Amino acid sequence: MLKHDVVIVGAGLAGLRAAVELRKKGIDAVIVSKVYPTRSHSGAAQGGVNAAFDENDSWESHFFDTVKGSDYLGDQDAIEILASEAPGNILELQSMGVVFNRNDKGGIAQRPFGGQSFPRSCYYADAVGHMMLHGLFDNVLKYKTKILYEYFVTSLVTDNGKVSGVVAYDIKNGKFEGIAAKAVLFATGGYGQVYSSNTNALINTGDGMAVSIKAGVPLMDMEFVQFHPTTLKSTGILVTEGARGEGAYLLNSLGVRFMSKYAPKAMELAPRDVVARAEQTEINEGRGIGGAILLDIRHLGKERIMEKLPQIMQLSIDFEGVNPIYEPIPIRPGAHYSMGGIKTDYNGRTVIEGYYSAGESACVSVHGANRLGGNSLLDTVVFGRRAGIDMAEYLKTADERKFDEKAVKRDEEAFEKLKKSSGKERHGLLKSELQEEMRADVGVFREENAMKKALDKIGELKERARNIGIDDKSKTFNTDIVEAFEFNNILLIAEVITRGAILRKESRGAHYRTDFPERDDSNWLKHTLATLDGSGNIKFDFSEVSITKFKPQPRTY
Ligand code: FUM
Repeated sequence: MLKHDVVIVGAGLAGLRAAVELRKKGIDAVIVSKVYPTRSHSGAAQGGVNAAFDENDSWESHFFDTVKGSDYLGDQDAIEILASEAPGNILELQSMGVVFNRNDKGGIAQRPFGGQSFPRSCYYADAVGHMMLHGLFDNVLKYKTKILYEYFVTSLVTDNGKVSGVVAYDIKNGKFEGIAAKAVLFATGGYGQVYSSNTNALINTGDGMAVSIKAGVPLMDMEFVQFHPTTLKSTGILVTEGARGEGAYLLNSLGVRFMSKYAPKAMELAPRDVVARAEQTEINEGRGIGGAILLDIRHLGKERIMEKLPQIMQLSIDFEGVNPIYEPIPIRPGAHYSMGGIKTDYNGRTVIEGYYSAGESACVSVHGANRLGGNSLLDTVVFGRRAGIDMAEYLKTADERKFDEKAVKRDEEAFEKLKKSSGKERHGLLKSELQEEMRADVGVFREENAMKKALDKIGELKERARNIGIDDKSKTFNTDIVEAFEFNNILLIAEVITRGAILRKESRGAHYRTDFPERDDSNWLKHTLATLDGSGNIKFDFSEVSITKFKPQPRTY
């Protein structure tokens, strides 16, 4: 068994940011990650990170835009922290070595993003997540942080209601390890792999959320799934909102900039829920082009495209066969981000003492029913840092606890049993069926009967999953078996999303019900909390939304 003061699960931005905070104080924190840190999904974020820097901008305006963007479901006490701490966090990152493009005055350059009333997204071309990830990783190395990579965490372990560590599977060596700790942070990212056509890395299978709900920690607002308006038609690869920030148009098959109909003021820079629905409506009503619509950046010119959007230019050429300097890019909405997640307070604390979460795996909640572009990278650093600070304080008084080695044995036996299975089902095929069902029936537009059909399909897949067979019987790097466990995680998360979406009988932010098209503040201005009962069935409770400053208003753009 390994023993550390803190275990950080996940080496994306939130995990690395928390690690820096702990390691600079000399705290014994280990990072455990399914992949090498620089392969974390944070590196795929492209367009920007928000902070109010300009003298004509203010953090209060960022605060309001985020509340409105969240369709008033975001907790305003937490959003105030997000917006007010943003500038300090970005400057701190810069001092750690993260590079941003510059404006004419030598300050950090900023571009417009959707739903923001001021251009406040700081950027490094269209590779902002990549730059931030590498910058923070350099700092984690500087503080000589121990990193266990290619470790898959399977359980959270507790002792008398307090966290006592995790169980992890060492993928390289094919063995289980108990890692004891007084504080554990899950910064395990999202679950984009629940859907076909998503922008997410293959690793994003909601593992942290699945492990948490099984350990008794509520998942909050899981019905809110963000569909990014611009993903490559054929692969779902992200085409940054930064393209629209730089001035890109969205065109239908008639060559019309259709956003004038849906968001006459904001146009292409309306928030993502609004733009994704507008696109899907154009496609559904026959004004798409082969299931897509077009993103046109040709008028920006070659020089600006190559300077500000080089990555999306190359991705369009490599994966769509289109050079956006000369042709518009076929795009469509794709699953991108999880607004919901492990319920935490604004210091990352969960209901289990010593157990924290931050970043996309957590729900603080700063994004409510719809996240604004550029607020996710910000969320990772603001709340990753706060969780690091809070864990350091917590350790000063945290008592010793026992790590129950039986938890390791239990997970080991489950793995061995699955490995020996010669069942007829294959997790890859089951995953494709699940993803396609979720896209079709729990997607941009939702309706009760379709979602019940999805629930039936999930039930069928749960049965069939009992009969998954494993072809690879080897000990080392057995990704066959890891993927089978990942499939069970996305299946559980898909059920939580679908049940929550059926339950919420209103339309708010990214959750749009064609059978309940209005927002209903009288009955639904509240968070949903999903837990498992003693038989493993999902049940729901509710909690209040923190409304400190801005009363809910109609949301138009
Ligand atoms: O469009 C983008 O560049 C994505 C940014 C985000 O999700 O915040």
